[in-house]
Amino acid sequence: MKELEARIQSEGHVLGEDILKVDSFLNHQIDPNLMQAMGNEFARLFESQGVTKIITVEASGIAPAVMAGLALDVPVVFARKSKSRILSDEAFTADVYSYTKQTTNQIRIEKRFLSASDRVLIIDDFLANGQALLGLKALADEAGASIVGAGIVIEKAFQPGRKAANEAGLNNIQSLARIAAFEDGQVIFVDEEK
Ligand code: G4P
Ligand code: NA
Ligand code: NA
Repeated sequence: MKELEARIQSEGHVLGEDILKVDSFLNHQIDPNLMQAMGNEFARLFESQGVTKIITVEASGIAPAVMAGLALDVPVVFARKSKSRILSDEAFTADVYSYTKQTTNQIRIEKRFLSASDRVLIIDDFLANGQALLGLKALADEAGASIVGAGIVIEKAFQPGRKAANEAGLNNIQSLARIAAFEDGQVIFVDEEK
């Protein structure tokens, strides 16, 4: 998506080897117009899939997920994160390890918000190592729901997330921006690779 790539180029900051800071429009301050355009694009990409529900994980997945939900006219459920492992009969739960933060969180969705009759679209802000995506897939699997695919705002294609998701059987992954590499602090998109 050209509009998103342009914003990444103009406002993104590369931190260290592999982190892209985009807190002026996605991860802290949010640009609602850009977010709505992205939601419309997700809706276009998945409109033929019979989506009944969108799931994401708090916090940064919520804004793009809500805009996609608005465009597809389906409810959006965000998995809640907690540090402690709370056992519950009322919730589907999965453990998600963050390589970036080196912590494990439990994510949970109340059972009443996800069922075997759902056709689920997963939305998230970043695809890096894929652990968040795998955790969300695990919640949908626990519910017996069908997963139609995943919509990602920014994929770091040089990290193993897509491969890990594919190996777990999650195949229809659509990313609005795909980053091939960071070179001298510059962002190189997949379609610009030489
Ligand atoms: P994964 O989600 O693909 O498994 O990757 P990882 O464990 O590395 O990511 C942990 C957190 O860091 C996630 O946010 C993820 O969205 C975010 N993240 C990963 N790479 C980048 C990056 O290059 N830039 C930015 N800005 N974030 C990145 P989270 O812990 O779920 O936090 P929240 O922002 O959703 O609250
Ligand atoms: Na994040
Ligand atoms: Na995230």
